[in-house]
Amino acid sequence: MKAVIFQQPGGPEVIRIADMPEPKPAANEVLIKVYAAGINRPDILQREGKYNPPAGVTLIPGLEVSGSVIETGNNITHFKPGDTVCALVQGGGYAEYVIANALTTVHLPEGLTLREGAAMMETFMTVWGHLFQMAGFSPGKSILIHGGASGIGTTATMLTRAWGASAVYTTVSCSENQQKSRNTGADAAINYRTYDYVSEILAHTDGKGVDYILDIVGGDYVTRNYKAAAMYGSIVQIGMLQGNPHDMNLFLMLAKRLKHMGATLRSQSPEEKMKIIDGLQKHVFPWIATGKVKPVVCATYPLSEAADAHVFLDSGNHFGKVVLLMD
Ligand SMILES: NC(=O)c1ccc[n+]([C@@H]2O[C@H](COP(=O)([O-])OP(=O)(O)OC[C@H]3O[C@@H](n4cnc5c(N)ncnc54)[C@H](OP(=O)(O)O)[C@@H]3O)[C@@H](O)[C@H]2O)c1
Repeated sequence: MKAVIFQQPGGPEVIRIADMPEPKPAANEVLIKVYAAGINRPDILQREGKYNPPAGVTLIPGLEVSGSVIETGNNITHFKPGDTVCALVQGGGYAEYVIANALTTVHLPEGLTLREGAAMMETFMTVWGHLFQMAGFSPGKSILIHGGASGIGTTATMLTRAWGASAVYTTVSCSENQQKSRNTGADAAINYRTYDYVSEILAHTDGKGVDYILDIVGGDYVTRNYKAAAMYGSIVQIGMLQGNPHDMNLFLMLAKRLKHMGATLRSQSPEEKMKIIDGLQKHVFPWIATGKVKPVVCATYPLSEAADAHVFLDSGNHFGKVVLLMD
C-alpha cells in the first residue's frame, strides 16, 4: 500500500510516499480502507522529531481517518466489511489502509461526508474529553479559546457555543480569521498580534475575567492566562506551542483559587477513549445530525501531495482542518 513516511526529522521536504506492507487486524481491531485522513499539529511535531509515536506504534503519521471497513478481527461483532466509519488511530492514518481499535471506531455520524468525518475524531475527542468531561465545562460559563483558527480552536468554539456558553472569546492572528472565528460561534475574536488578550478579556468581562481558558500555547501565556481568568476559573492546558514557561506567577493562581489542569489524548487507554466517544455520541452527534456543529475543513490534498499539505499547515494560513484524500 502507499503510505507517507518521514525520512528523518525536519521540514516538509522529509516527506516521502513509500510502499509499505498492508497491516493485519488483531482480534479487537478493524482494517479500514482509508478514504481520507485528517492532519493535526501533533503530526507536524512528529515530523519535526518533537513528538515520537508511543513504543510499538507505526511510524506512518496520521491520527484520524474515515473510510470503509474491509476486515474485522475475531472479537468484533458491531462492525462488518463495507461499514463506513471514522476512527481515531494511534498512528498510520496517512496510508491507503490502517488498523484501528474497534473501541475508537464509530460509524460515520449522520450529517457528515467522509471528507468531514476524517477531520473529526482527534479534535472532537480532545475537546470533549478534556474541556467537557475532565474540566466540567457547563452551560452559562464564559471561555477564552486560544488558537481560534486551529482544528482544536474551531472545534472548541462550536462545541462551547452549542453547549450554552455565556460568552466565547478566541485569539487569532489576522482580521480574516477574526471574522471566520465569529462565524464559527465566537462573540469576539481577539487579534493576539496587535492586542494584549488579557486587557481585551478584562474589558469584555467588566474586569471579572473568564471562567474557562483552553490553552494550546503555554510559555508566557501561562501567567497571562492566570490574569485573564475569573476567580475560581479553570485553565485547561492541552498544548504548549511556546514550550514551558520561563517564569510564572503562581501567586495569581493561589489568590484567584484557580484550577490549572492538562492532559493528552494519545496516552489514554482505548477504554478511556471509548468513554469520550460515548459522550460525543450522546451529546455531540445529535448536533452534527442537525448541522449545528461539523468539522471545519478548509483544504484537501491528495496523499501524493502530503508535503504541500504540511507546507500549508506550517504557513499558518489555515482555518480549521486540512485533510488528505487517498489518491
Ligand atoms: N492534548 C491533546 O491531546 C492534543 C490533541 C490534539 C492537539 N493538541 C495540541 O493542540 C494544539 C492545536 O492543534 P491543532 O491540530 O488544532 O493545530 P493547528 O490547526 O495546526 O493550529 C495551531 C494554531 O495555533 C495558533 N497559534 C500559534 N501561536 C499562537 C499564539 N501565540 N496565540 C494564539 N494562537 C496561536 C495558530 O493560529 P494563528 O495562525 O492564528 O496564529 C494556529 O491556528 C497543538 O499544540 C497540539 O499539539 C493537543
